[in-house]
Amino acid sequence: MYEKILVDIHSHILPNLDDGSKSMTESLEIIKVMHRLGYRKMILTPHNQQGWFTNPTEKIIDALNKMNIAVSIHRLNMILEAASEYYLDELFLQTIRKKLALTFGRKYVLIELSPFILDKFLFQHLDEIMQHGYVPVLAHPERYIYFYQQKEKYHQLHEMGVKLQLNLVALSNEVSKEMRCIAEYLIDQQLVSFCGSDTHSMKNSKILENLPNETSYLEKLVTTNPLLNSTLY
Ligand SMILES: [Fe+2]
Repeated sequence: MYEKILVDIHSHILPNLDDGSKSMTESLEIIKVMHRLGYRKMILTPHNQQGWFTNPTEKIIDALNKMNIAVSIHRLNMILEAASEYYLDELFLQTIRKKLALTFGRKYVLIELSPFILDKFLFQHLDEIMQHGYVPVLAHPERYIYFYQQKEKYHQLHEMGVKLQLNLVALSNEVSKEMRCIAEYLIDQQLVSFCGSDTHSMKNSKILENLPNETSYLEKLVTTNPLLNSTLY
């Protein structure tokens, strides 16, 4: 199933840049599993969030170059690119105003929100991001609890051109039933433009390995939703 997805667009495996992989060895092990599953390209997206992790572009590109060397030494057949998972905060808004955000594909920029508190300016911020020529990709929409009672917001986001990026792990039994229901709702409504592993460690990869046996929604996602992952290959 994963060979049809082909490109993973969300992971934290540039070692020691954020709360993800802790070593090059760990990252290489994860890449081996992703390759075995069928992935051939990964976009590596370390966090950028004011007051938590700040990863300037040069630091990310430097880490990517080191990882590419390690991948070629170990003869792993995986194309690597880097972007960032930007928390929608003032620092990020300044970055897009200066047109300095790290993007992938067709000016896609991966963003995340507070899981608990709805930013009352969310839609204005998204408009501004788009006016600067970026296409916002909203990471793990199934995580934002304030949308659970107002699912029409997902449709509103989709219609305004925001791409929704489902975390595949949300289809597993590892997450709450409520979150899984939202993930399945997004698939039923064909609102998912991208899916991602959001891999932080080997734990994620193991969940992905079991997922095809655990749920029919992975197949449903791949066969019925307008997934763009493979267009990035
Ligand atoms: Fe992430």
